[in-house]
Amino acid sequence: MEINYRLFRRNKNIFSYEGIIKQKEISIIIDVIYMPKVSLVSKEELSRLKNERLVVRDISKRFDNKVILRKITFSINPGEILIIVGPSGSGKSTLLKILCRLIEPDSGQIKLGSINILEQDVLFVRRILTYVAQIPVMFEGTVRDNLLLAPRYLGLHVSEDELVKIIEEVGLNKSFLDMIADNLSVGEKQRVALARALLLDPLILLLDEPTSHLDPENTRILEDLIISLNKRREKTFLIVTHDYNQAKRLGDRVLRLDNGELKEFKV
Ligand SMILES: Nc1ncnc2c1ncn2[C@@H]1O[C@H](COP(=O)(O)OP(=O)(O)OP(=O)(O)O)[C@@H](O)[C@H]1O
Ligand SMILES: [Mg+2]
Repeated sequence: MEINYRLFRRNKNIFSYEGIIKQKEISIIIDVIYMPKVSLVSKEELSRLKNERLVVRDISKRFDNKVILRKITFSINPGEILIIVGPSGSGKSTLLKILCRLIEPDSGQIKLGSINILEQDVLFVRRILTYVAQIPVMFEGTVRDNLLLAPRYLGLHVSEDELVKIIEEVGLNKSFLDMIADNLSVGEKQRVALARALLLDPLILLLDEPTSHLDPENTRILEDLIISLNKRREKTFLIVTHDYNQAKRLGDRVLRLDNGELKEFKV
C-alpha cells in the first residue's frame, strides 16, 4: 500500500533526524504504527494503570543554555482535567513533549504508579500518554485513512459506526470521512487529530492548545466533548492553553507555567 510505504520512509528520516519538532510530531502516530500487531500494553495492564497517578518530579530542560523548565513538579490524578496555563514561549509544549518522550528532559523523574516513564519503551509510553500536537499533521489520504491507520497496526477493529460516531463527537459531519485530510482547515485538522488520538483509547490525553484554531462555537463544542469524555469515559486530561478563561471553564485544577516555574493558579 502506497500510503504505508511513504510513511515508513518518512519514519526512517524522523529517527535519524534531530531538531525538527514538526517531523518529530509526525513520529507520534508513526511510532504507534510501528508497534507490533499485539499491543505492547495488555488490557489488564491498562486497566491496572488506569488508577495510578502520574507523578512528575524536578523536570528540568534547557535549550541552547536557556533554561526553559526549572525543576517542574506536579502530579495528575486519574480522572481529572488538569490545565497548565502560561504565556507563549513559556515551555508548555516542551513539557507535554517530555511527558510523551518526544523530548528527553535534562533531569527529573516521571512515574505512573511504580512505572518509570523515562525508562520505558517510547512506544509503550505513547500508547498510554497520547499527545495531540498544537500544529496538526495529517497523513496522506482521506480522513478515514487517518483515523484507521494506527488502529489497523494495533490490530484494533474500528467499525464504520464508530468512525461516524467519533467524527461527529469532535463536531465534524460524517461526510468529512471521505475528504482528503490535508485539504481541511487547520481547525478541522485539529479535530481529526483529536479523533485519531481518541480511537487509541489512551489513559491520559495530552492536548496542546486544542482550540487555538477554532471559532467560539467550535471551541465550545470541543470543550463540551472534553468534559463529557472526562465524565462519561473517565478520561484523564492534561491540557495546555494560554487562555485563562478556558482554564477556568475546563480545569479541575489549574497550574501556571511562567519563567520556567510551575505554580498553583487560583481560579
Ligand atoms: N528544539 C528546540 N531548540 C531550541 N529551542 C527550543 C526548542 N523547542 C522549543 N524551544 C524554545 O523553548 C521555549 C519554549 O517553547 P514551547 O514551544 O515549549 O513554548 P509554548 O509555551 O508551548 O509556547 P506557545 O504558547 O507559543 O505554543 C521557546 O523559547 C522556544 O523557542
Ligand atoms: Mg506551544
